[in-house]
Parts: sequence; structure tokens; C-alpha cells
Amino acid sequence: MKPHILQLNPILIPQVNDQLATRYNVHRWFEIADQAAWMREYAGAIVAVITGGHTGISRDMLAQLPQLKVVAVNGVGTDAVDLAYCRERGLPVTATLGALTEDVADLAIGLLIAACRNLCAGDRFVREGQWELHPQPSAIPLARRFSGMRVGIVGMGRVGRAVATRAAAFGCPISYTDLRPMDDVPHRFVPGLIDLARDADALVLCAAADQAEGIVDAAVLDALGPRGFLVNVARGRLVNEADLTAALTAGRIAGCGLDVFVDEPRVPAALRQSDMATLQAHRASATWETRTAMAEMVLTSVMQALDGERPTMSLTN
Ligand code: 8YV
Repeated sequence: MKPHILQLNPILIPQVNDQLATRYNVHRWFEIADQAAWMREYAGAIVAVITGGHTGISRDMLAQLPQLKVVAVNGVGTDAVDLAYCRERGLPVTATLGALTEDVADLAIGLLIAACRNLCAGDRFVREGQWELHPQPSAIPLARRFSGMRVGIVGMGRVGRAVATRAAAFGCPISYTDLRPMDDVPHRFVPGLIDLARDADALVLCAAADQAEGIVDAAVLDALGPRGFLVNVARGRLVNEADLTAALTAGRIAGCGLDVFVDEPRVPAALRQSDMATLQAHRASATWETRTAMAEMVLTSVMQALDGERPTMSLTN
């Protein structure tokens, strides 16, 4: 009989879904109508969980899966999994390390350029026929140059470094903050987030959210100032969203580009209504190339764990 595995989030790569279905009895949580009844019947049989970085898995659900041998996160963030608990249980938690770096950094730069140059408002202006009604150049306010902007990067991990490489190619002076300075990073280290924001035209959030919450608050946004832009491709909860909407609405920052939010898929109305905000639906890793690589890593991790091996991508043991 095939082992039972539980998928909390869909995988969008058909060939990987085919492989999973060939090897395992795959239960798709998001398609189960009566989840409580399903838990009573199958929880005791589940040996692997596949989930998304943002979704993770609750400790309560983990506790109800006694035969579990692996939690395979289809993502790089493991902040929504209780790693300490999994370590105690000797349970490997795997991530798709390195697979999504380039795409996330691409989107960070894309969002920053879109925010500075007001690309979405410009698109709407043309699409809605406003250009013909207001052909004079003054109908759209002048935008802000991205090349040469002082970029402050929060979190100099894989993604932060890839953002730095790209921003450097645009002639941007780069500073960063992290838990400590890094010898192999040729950019200026700034220990404090407020100081980093004060010296930057754009703050790009690339940090893990395992510990940090609400670190970008009113004080940081005010340090960034009315000509400053905020980009977040990490986790929504790094930002105090109420402070951000207040700062944006009052023009205390110039704009923002956000791929992630505190309570996805709910996005505050003030952000949705603001022309100064460029918004994406948590799509930074959502390309065929990256999602294929990620799904293949997930499959490998599940296979390794269920074959009795320590998954190479395990973060816990
Ligand atoms: C994914 C993510 O969108 O890697 C992460 O931590 O949040 C994203 O890349 C998500 O994990 C896809 O399921």
C-alpha cells in the first residue's frame, strides 16, 4: 500500500504532482470538505506533510500526526513551522534553499522600479483611456529615478545579496543591516534599522521573520522619509502595517512595493486604494523555473525521509 502524505498547499508543477501520486497516496487538504472527519480517519497514517512557506503547519496539527517523518516546506521561509518542537520530536523540516533567490531578487527590483516610476498608475492611465482625454505631459506627475538610489537592504542572506548584485548594476550605493556584519559582503554595514532607513532612498526587506515582527514601524518609516520607498519581498509581519498605511496616506514616505502582507490574502483597503503602493499577491517565487526547482526539491526531501534517509535539505536534524 502507498504511504499517505498530506499536502496543505497545491504544487503547481504537473510532473511533480504525477510523481507524488505514483509513489504516495496524496491527500489534498485544500480540497477536503470535512477536515475534522478526515483527521479522524487519516491523521494516524500520514507520514509526510508538504506545505508552503507562508502556510507552514500549526503545532496543533503536527501533534495530531504521530507517524510524521518529514515536513517539506515548498519555500525558503520556515517561520510558520515550530522548528524547536520539530527538533524535539526529531522531525526533519526541509526548505527549498537556494531555489528561489534569483526570482525573489528580480521581483524586489521590479517592485522598486514600479514604485519609483509609478508604472501601475501609468498603466491604468493608458488602459482607461485617460491619455487621450489628458494628452498634455503634465497630466502625470514626474516620477523618481531608480538608478543611483541609495538602497538599504534588511537581511543580507541569499536574497539580500542577490538584490545587492542587481542594485549595484544600477549604480546604487548599498548599505545593509543584519544580526552582524559579514566579511564577504563588500557593502556598508549599518547596525541599526533606523540609521539604515535614514541614509537610504529605498529600504528592501529580505530578512527571515522567525524572530522579527513589526520591525519596520513608524520610527523607521519616518527615518526613511517623504522621498523614501519601502519594498517587502520577505514576510508581511516584518512591517507594522497600520504604521505603513498611516505613513503612506500622509505622504510621510514616497511609496512602497509589497509582495507580502500581514494577513494574506487580506490586504488593508488603504494599501489597495493607494496609487503610491505597488502590490503583488505573494508571487516572488512564482515562475515556472523556480516553482519547478522548488517542487523537485520537495519531492526529493519527501522521498529521502520516507526512504529512511536524513533529507539533505533538512534544517532541524
Ligand atoms: C512561496 C515563500 O510563495 O519561500 C517562501 O518562504 O513564502 C514563497 O516562496 C511559498 O512558499 C509557496 O508555497
